[in-house]
Amino acid sequence: MENRPQWGTRAGFILAAAGSAIGLGNIWRFPAVAYENGGGAFFLPYLFALLTAGIPLLILEFTMGHKYRGSAPLSFARMNKKTEWIGWWQVGISFIISIYYGAIIAWAMSYSVFSFNLNWGNDTAGFLFGDYLNITDPGKFDGFVPGVLLPLILVWVIALGVLYRGVKRGIELANKIFIPALLVLFLIIVVRALTLEGAVDGLNAFFKPDWSAISSGKVWVAAYGQIFFSLSIAFAIMITYSSYLPKKSDITNNAFITGFANSSFELLAGIGVFSILGFMAMQQGEAVSDVVSAGVGLAFVVFPAVINELPALNGLFGFLFFGSLVLAGLSSLISIIETYIAGLQDKFKISRSKAVIFGGGFAAIVSLMFATRGGLWFLDVMDYFINSFGVALAGLVQVIVVVWFAKELKSLQAHANSVSDIKLTGLLGGWWKISLAFITPAVLGYMMIDNIRTNIS
Ligand code: PHE
Ligand code: NA
Repeated sequence: MENRPQWGTRAGFILAAAGSAIGLGNIWRFPAVAYENGGGAFFLPYLFALLTAGIPLLILEFTMGHKYRGSAPLSFARMNKKTEWIGWWQVGISFIISIYYGAIIAWAMSYSVFSFNLNWGNDTAGFLFGDYLNITDPGKFDGFVPGVLLPLILVWVIALGVLYRGVKRGIELANKIFIPALLVLFLIIVVRALTLEGAVDGLNAFFKPDWSAISSGKVWVAAYGQIFFSLSIAFAIMITYSSYLPKKSDITNNAFITGFANSSFELLAGIGVFSILGFMAMQQGEAVSDVVSAGVGLAFVVFPAVINELPALNGLFGFLFFGSLVLAGLSSLISIIETYIAGLQDKFKISRSKAVIFGGGFAAIVSLMFATRGGLWFLDVMDYFINSFGVALAGLVQVIVVVWFAKELKSLQAHANSVSDIKLTGLLGGWWKISLAFITPAVLGYMMIDNIRTNIS
């Protein structure tokens, strides 16, 4: 405990936390979620969710990591022995996500290379599922797909290499390179996208407010869901990362910076993606609403089709886009793997190198199933399961246990105030406590019931 590693600089910690938050969710999830849930009007529930759940929970997790100086399981155990399992549950979710997140980064790596020759041709969906992923029946093993296997191995070598080097020389250094680079690449993309013909139509579609959406419970659930996933909350990550903070750290302020940085990037991505969708709609003589998509389809089917139609420098644009996916993805992947590296180290008192080799190595090997011909099927199942039950439930249990079972809110508040410039007192203190004790549990509880209901019916 005494020789716990530390971040070298405050900026290093913020870049690492923001690097975890800024990921595929910002680029391929947020734009479509906002569009489908009220467009411009979505910003109201979204901002509300950021201020009543996102930032309060970030402060909570940063404070827990800082106060208890442990990976998530150890931090929970130090708070109250009976709650260690919550930490392991969160670590478990992160373990599962890491296994498929790595595969998507591997695809993006391949596609950044394909960009130069527009290898995907005109049938971009056929290329993805046929030529590239080589899909067969689910669960049927007939060998690896070399085109996926090689980049997947590379992803794991990079991520585990970074983690092996440790907190300062590995995680911090990688994020100090990846995140500024990501920002530059992405800004170039957005500027190019904004200058495309049809961009204005896309932006109009994106920002046009549908105020009637605000009265729909589904829209509020979408806003909270996006904030949770996007800020990497209840994944054990932020507790782990803040356990490496030095004694004197302005945790409250760090949480505000991380939260706003992530949302700014989300907005930027929305502008870029919808400019491009506007261009695409114009090329095809369709309405923007007909070309909106998210996730794998947006990145690996729609984007290649758009890149085909760009007037000039298509290859470069494709390289920048898929390169940004790789950078955004890697910095998030590193953070998820670190949760179980740190968890194993604390639990079994083993060195970082052993934890990386055994824990990381095991995850890497399991993740190779995505380089098989049935791989996509596993990915769909896992993603669905995690998003429907994992995150919201883990977040709900976390706040209820901290606030109502362990009754630690007051002492965590005092701890945060003892080190932070921004004090959780007066109005701000009231906001923090009400958000965590009432608003967040109420919304997450509603979300769970809603999930169960829609899954049953
Ligand atoms: N926050 C990341 C994003 O927005 C996703 C993520 C989830 C990263 C869980 C790590 C762990 O894409
Ligand atoms: Na995010």
